[in-house]
Amino acid sequence: MPQDTVEGKIPDFFSIETVLGCNLSCAGCYTGAGLVTRQQGVMSFTQYKAIADNLKAYAKKVCLAVWGEPLLNKDILEIIKYTIGFADPYLTTNGQLIDETLAEKIVDSGCVNISVSIDGCSQAVYEKYRRGGRAEKAINALKYLCASKKRLKSNIGICPTFLVFEHNEQEMADFAELCHSLELEPGFMRPFRIENSALQFSNKTKYRPLGTAGLSDKERKKYILEKEEGCFERIIILVDGSVVPCCCDYNGQDIFGNVLEQSILDIWQSKKFCAFRKNLLNGKDVCKRRNCFMLNRQRNVLPDA
Ligand SMILES: C[S@@+](CC[C@H](N)C(=O)[O-])C[C@H]1O[C@@H](n2cnc3c(N)ncnc32)[C@H](O)[C@@H]1O
Ligand code: SF4
Ligand code: SF4
Repeated sequence: MPQDTVEGKIPDFFSIETVLGCNLSCAGCYTGAGLVTRQQGVMSFTQYKAIADNLKAYAKKVCLAVWGEPLLNKDILEIIKYTIGFADPYLTTNGQLIDETLAEKIVDSGCVNISVSIDGCSQAVYEKYRRGGRAEKAINALKYLCASKKRLKSNIGICPTFLVFEHNEQEMADFAELCHSLELEPGFMRPFRIENSALQFSNKTKYRPLGTAGLSDKERKKYILEKEEGCFERIIILVDGSVVPCCCDYNGQDIFGNVLEQSILDIWQSKKFCAFRKNLLNGKDVCKRRNCFMLNRQRNVLPDA
């Protein structure tokens, strides 16, 4: 990691919580499980614009969701279009609200990438995690997006994602087949455990990141903090403008400032935020979160041979 990352170089990747609240109650999601005690709400376009104007000198990539469903924001298409003026907008959605019309509008909006979270193919398996959702709607959302992409000759990235647990690992093959039939690559991911979830991790998948074999947990954490995104590579902005170090800080335990009141550079370079990052790199236990996003998150997990 370049030396100036702790004190100077601000990340170019931001996640902005355009909605805190959801139409589903996913069992292992902090919002879905009811662990988020912050005031739910929707970011208005005016607030988004003020935040965007604050960080547009630094941002290259902006993900428009943190702990909520971004398509519940009626201004989301306008937000995407505004973002294109300075950075690549990314969306991640449960897909429940995407019909043919909305799919067409999202693809046409210039959104660079959309992830659709679908953690099972059959309704029985899907709803064990995506409580209150319909598998058919999520799968249709994927199909509508693919059809619009073709029709509009768009370059939008469409990423079907699947959090692998014990209860859904038997549907990984069907999910891969479905994705391949749509000329998409499935993204199998390891979930991070949350405090009161009864769900079990799958034992059939390899989770450890490449390059960390043989490292102790402490060494592995340092390696991941340095190499991957996380509190050094991405800034998280909650629905009220608060800046927290990563999305695992779902209730804003470590708020370093507010982008509706201060410049993002001042917040990033503040003594408090710098000390937090320095201490982390020096192996001090300053992060209060037990489920470190970086330590646990694994993309593209593979079934064991
Ligand atoms: C919190 S959701 C917000 C966006 C949208 N509502 C959705 O579900 O895609 C953002 C991402 O977190 C993922 N996610 C949900 N629960 C998770 C967990 N326990 N561990 C890791 N990722 C999780 C979702 O699958 C999604 O890709
Ligand atoms: S759909 Fe997304 S935000 Fe909503 S409960 Fe599920 S994971 Fe959480
Ligand atoms: S849980 Fe803590 S150490 Fe891990 S990425 Fe988040 S802020 Fe950094």
